[in-house]
Amino acid sequence: MGEVDPAFIQAPEHRPKLSVIEAQGIPLIDLSVLNSPDDTINDDALVAEIGDACKRWGFFQVINHGVPLEKRQRIEEAARKFFAQPLEEKRKVRRDEEKVLGYYDTEHTKNVRDWKEVFDLTVHDPTFIPASLDPDDEETDEWHNQWPEYPPELREACEEYAKEMEKLAFKLMTLIALSLGLPGNRFQGFFKDQTSFIRLNHYPPCPAPNLALGLGRHTDSGALTILAQDNVGGLEVKRKSDGDWIRVKPTPDAYIINVGDIIQVWSNEAYESVEHRVTANSERERFSIPYFLIPAHYTVVKPLDELTNELNPAKYRAYNWGKFFTTRKLSNFKKLSVENIQISHFKIQELSNKLEGGLTIT
Ligand code: OGA
Ligand code: NI
Repeated sequence: MGEVDPAFIQAPEHRPKLSVIEAQGIPLIDLSVLNSPDDTINDDALVAEIGDACKRWGFFQVINHGVPLEKRQRIEEAARKFFAQPLEEKRKVRRDEEKVLGYYDTEHTKNVRDWKEVFDLTVHDPTFIPASLDPDDEETDEWHNQWPEYPPELREACEEYAKEMEKLAFKLMTLIALSLGLPGNRFQGFFKDQTSFIRLNHYPPCPAPNLALGLGRHTDSGALTILAQDNVGGLEVKRKSDGDWIRVKPTPDAYIINVGDIIQVWSNEAYESVEHRVTANSERERFSIPYFLIPAHYTVVKPLDELTNELNPAKYRAYNWGKFFTTRKLSNFKKLSVENIQISHFKIQELSNKLEGGLTIT
């Protein structure tokens, strides 16, 4: 990545501050009570703790989560080996308009280039995604993973890790449902044909960490994210109480959990999907692995009936997850100068503005 191309430079208001606030901030939640053989999750104190963290921060870390450390170490080591290869090797599995999964080093967030390279894979292979933006077109594309030759263990490491992530994600979704006063299995049906994916992130050292970001500010558009970060640090979360960027301190073997846009809509904003970003580092490279839990493409995302009433009417119009996602994907490939589609486009107060803007997706 060498010299700093202007494509990486953030507008002044989005550049990171030199002094970092490393508050203990985001809650650390111990999940050991879930490790009992009994399958039912009904620990009131834990449910309350999760609800509180979702409401106040939208982010928390979990320990004693039941994911074997060796599975995490295996995928982390395989990721390091993959990214350490020369660019031409990595580009053999690069993603393009046809093969949408694999290696990519020109990711943009809000039209500014991120100082990182990624490798994407879906948890279910194949994964089905709408072929076009046309709301009446039911045709889907099949997405298949691309696996590199090296390191040969990458595939199995990813597949095994994905299974662990799925187990943890479902436990967390049960806790979140209970914390909203819903039956524990309320969200389960949405994930039958899930479009969840895993991203291996590599953030190389950057000569201009004051101008560029490893990953620009954004919210995650899925339901829930489970992130493994290494011990370098750099993830910052926008604190809801005052808008300050707070560094998430690396905690060995912990996972960072955050609520995504879909939970924000399902919960009618009881829980919000909070902005976060990754600062760049001039000395140390950094690795991270997010798992994004995302429903089936045909899911119609809207505030749950149980969580809305006359006093608390739905704040969003329904949208089709697959069409929303395809809209984003296409605008990424075409590098459209418009802002990517956001859930705010479905906010009910904003409906009249958006119609003027000619947004047609439903
Ligand atoms: C993401 C993300 C954080 C990190 O990929 O959406 O927020 O630490 N990653 O890499
Ligand atoms: Ni994110």
